[in-house]
Parts: sequence; structure tokens; C-alpha cells
Amino acid sequence: MSDRRIALLGAGTMGHGIAQLAAQAGFETRVFDPAPEALAKGLAAARAGVERAIQKGRLLAEEGPRALARLHGAKSLEEAVHDADLVIEAGPESLAVKCRILTEACAAAPEDAIVASNTSSLSLTELAAATPRPSRVVGMHFFNPPPVMKLVEIVRAEQTAPEAIARVRAAAERMGKEVVEVRDSPGFASSRLGIALAMEAIRMLEEGVASAEDIDRAMRLGYNHPMGPLELTDLVGLDVRLAIADYLNRELGGLRFQPPQLLRRLVRAGKLGKKAGEGFYKYQLSEGQSVR
Ligand SMILES: NC(=O)c1ccc[n+]([C@@H]2O[C@H](COP(=O)([O-])OP(=O)(O)OC[C@H]3O[C@@H](n4cnc5c(N)ncnc54)[C@H](O)[C@@H]3O)[C@@H](O)[C@H]2O)c1
Repeated sequence: MSDRRIALLGAGTMGHGIAQLAAQAGFETRVFDPAPEALAKGLAAARAGVERAIQKGRLLAEEGPRALARLHGAKSLEEAVHDADLVIEAGPESLAVKCRILTEACAAAPEDAIVASNTSSLSLTELAAATPRPSRVVGMHFFNPPPVMKLVEIVRAEQTAPEAIARVRAAAERMGKEVVEVRDSPGFASSRLGIALAMEAIRMLEEGVASAEDIDRAMRLGYNHPMGPLELTDLVGLDVRLAIADYLNRELGGLRFQPPQLLRRLVRAGKLGKKAGEGFYKYQLSEGQSVR
């Protein structure tokens, strides 16, 4: 029998987007966040996302009320996961915090539930090892914003059972996603390639090879990337990318992931990208528009 109920742990940027998708795809969806204001904000954003999906023609109008009726908040982790078939953890990117959430989820969810993490870089094998049911733990890496981005990267820990892979694959496909499957390794496939390109682009800017605009334009027009690596780093957040680069540098070594001094300087100066109004480009915070 196919999975019917999903619990989302964390209602932030990723959690609420995944919750929206899950509800639209027909899953009974319960969302928990320990910060009550984050839960309220996340649920409101997920509901607004359903309306937006209808406006954009990604969801039939008559499906809207049904999707909204499937979307629920939960007051505790236990309430969210107690009858879930699939738990998706979208809490902060911290090994200690994720180990705790996944362990609690494994203990409170039905024995055969799959417990997936949306981590963008941490080792699934390490996370799985911290839980009482490592064979049920798997990576389910969505991209930002989840309702729009087509990819889900499934990450196989050393301990992950084939059934867990099959079930998250089925759930992702039901949400309309395309799936790639990777063995657990630092940065998986997506972050490892994306960070290598971004660090090299920043090094080129530092060396004065070309302007930020021209480096981005080269990738957009020459390689058909929808966004250049510097624009994308502004969008994701320079602090976020620095943290991932530091992690990959520690794990994999070599110049390719070594964060350039320019990146560290910008982060120290609070120039974190679009969210801060300035990174490699300047933005008007209210409209999020570039004023390069
Ligand atoms: N933002 C992105 O572009 C992106 C893309 C792919 C993957 N990710 C990954 O998704 C995860 C979430 O990222 P985000 O950008 O949504 O972060 P976020 O900060 O927007 O949201 C995290 C949420 O987790 C909640 N939280 C804290 N402790 C918790 C707990 N014990 N149980 C449940 N929830 C808890 C916080 O209150 C917050 O609302 C991270 O692992 C991140 O690396 C992020």
C-alpha cells in the first residue's frame, strides 16, 4: 500500500514549501515547528503557496480546497509523526540538532515509517547512525523554492534499506519531482558541483579576471545556466555557501572547495547576499530588486 501521511519537522523556508507540495500531491500533511510563530508563519505561507499554485496554473482550482484541508499544524513532534508513513525533517543545518530530531522522530513514529532529512550537506550515514532505526533513514534533498524546483536528490546512507529509497522516490515522484540518487558523500552531487563552480567564480572575481556581471553572463549565455554562480550565491546566502565550502574543504581537501578570502570578507561585513541587501550585487530590500 502506498504512503498516505507525511510529517514535516520544521516550518521554515524549506519545510513550509515541502508541506505545500505534499498536501497538493494528496498526502495528509502535519507540520511541527518548536517555535510557535515559525509554525504559524510557515502554515500561512504554505496556504498562500497553494493559492499561488492555482494562479500560476500548477494546480487545478478545484484541488485547492482539498489541498488546504490536508494541511495541518501539530503542537508537538509526537503529534506530527505518531501515524506518519514518511517523516521529512527540515530543521536547522546542524548535526547535533538533526541527530536529536531524527532520533525523536524514529522513536515516536510507527515502526515502519521512513525518516528522511532535507540536509543540504551533512552526512546521512552519521545522522542514521545516531538513530535507533538507521535502515529507515535516508536523505531527501529538495531545492529552494520546493514548489518550483524540479529536483529531489535522494541520498543513500550506508545503512539505508532499499525499501526506504523506493518509498521516498515514490513520494517525490507523486509530488511531481524528478529524482537523482546518490551515495552519501560530502555535498552529494548538487552541492559539490555547485560549490566548486561558485568558489572558482569568486576566485576569478578576486583575481580581476572579469566583473561579477561578466562572470555570471558567461555562464548564463555561454553555458545556458539560468543564473550565474555569483547571482546564485547572493540568492542562497554567502554565509550559507561559506559554511558548505568550509565543510567540503575539510572533508574533501584540495583547492577546489577552499573559500576565497573575498567570500570571508564579505560575510564578515554582513554582505550576505539578497537577504541582506548586498552581496556580489546590491538589492533594494523591499522589492528584492537588483540595483547593480
Ligand atoms: N534554504 C535553502 O535554500 C535550502 C535548500 C536545500 C536544503 N536546505 C536545508 O533544509 C533545512 C532547513 O533549511 P531552511 O532554509 O528551511 O531553514 P530555516 O531556518 O528557514 O527553517 C528551519 C526551521 O526549523 C525549526 N526548528 C528548530 N529546531 C527544530 C526542531 N527541533 N524540530 C523541528 N524544527 C525545528 C526552526 O524554528 C525553523 O523554523 C536545512 O537542513 C538546510 O540545509 C535549505
